[in-house]
Amino acid sequence: MNREKDQLKKLLQPVPLPGGKSIPSRILPGPMEGIMTADFCRTMMEFDLLSSWITPFIRISHSTPRAVRLDERLIYFRPLPIIAQIMGTYREHLARTTKILSGLDGVIGVELNCACSSNTVLRSGAGGAQLRNPEWIRDTLLEMRKSSPGTGIGVKLRTGFTSADELPGILEQVRKAEPDWIVIHYRTSKELFRSVPDGLQRLRTARELLPKTFLFGSGDLFTCGQAVEMISRTGVDGITPARGLMHNPWLIRDIETVCRGETPPGRNVVPFLLRLLDLSADNPVWRNGLILEITRNIWGRESEFFKSLAREHKAAAMRRILEKKQTTEDRGQRTD
Ligand SMILES: Cc1cc2nc3c(=O)[nH]c(=O)nc-3n(C[C@H](O)[C@H](O)[C@H](O)COP(=O)(O)O)c2cc1C
Repeated sequence: MNREKDQLKKLLQPVPLPGGKSIPSRILPGPMEGIMTADFCRTMMEFDLLSSWITPFIRISHSTPRAVRLDERLIYFRPLPIIAQIMGTYREHLARTTKILSGLDGVIGVELNCACSSNTVLRSGAGGAQLRNPEWIRDTLLEMRKSSPGTGIGVKLRTGFTSADELPGILEQVRKAEPDWIVIHYRTSKELFRSVPDGLQRLRTARELLPKTFLFGSGDLFTCGQAVEMISRTGVDGITPARGLMHNPWLIRDIETVCRGETPPGRNVVPFLLRLLDLSADNPVWRNGLILEITRNIWGRESEFFKSLAREHKAAAMRRILEKKQTTEDRGQRTD
């Protein structure tokens, strides 16, 4: 019990990185391409729901992007410390990009994505496809390090391409590059987002294989209970909840509260949704998808609240529904 308490308290400590930089806490948002829009990021920061970011992947193809282009990709995430994630197949461009990124405002580290398993990415040989070639991952990390010795260098992995039996071979090579951290999403590339019964055991195996490397666990962290279970059953050093933020935007702060031995308060998500709506509505390309996604996750597809929002396509009409919901939440009433 005391061991678990100590493990949880440790999650609140910063992680030192090269160049005197550090990650402020060991609970980071798992990157989500398409979800971490400017509006989502701004709302998360205005509500003070996290302490640092790992960005969704920046795709690097057969050239090195100019600094100004890379800087544009980081604007949403400032002023919090940023781990910029890159993905590609050309080692020299990944290394040069790392160098440019490491000189940009707020960047504390660069992470190589070897986990993304969308068909397009796999077909291009990037992301999760690199899990079939652990030596490539090792050598690319070494080049990234060489290009930017004063910045944290990390890697995001899955536990294999087709089978988790590949994990020891992958880690054996990655370890040789001495990354400052490894994030492991416990599924294989082929498993996409399917449920895997032995996900935590796979992270446990990674821990045993790499007792000294800083490991972040990823996979199905929707609640504080799941976070505590991952930490205590696997011994990973940190966690990166992703989709859980669309079930509870306060998830990172709630897990931190549990780590302090306290109980998280009840959360009212409506003000968060209202702010997200207002920011999105100002956007010339107005999209209500994210608001609907969060509402569906929290209240359910069958709830009147979700159904009434889903019928609306105009921001003003959605706002009226949210304000009505806010009033009933304030009165402590449930409407569905
Ligand atoms: C819509 C979406 C986009 C994602 N984009 C990225 C990405 O750009 N980079 C990355 O490393 N992981 C990405 N992921 C994976 C998540 O960071 C995380 O590893 C995965 O969802 C498992 O964690 P979870 O079950 O807590 O969501 C994405 C996941 C989703 C659902």
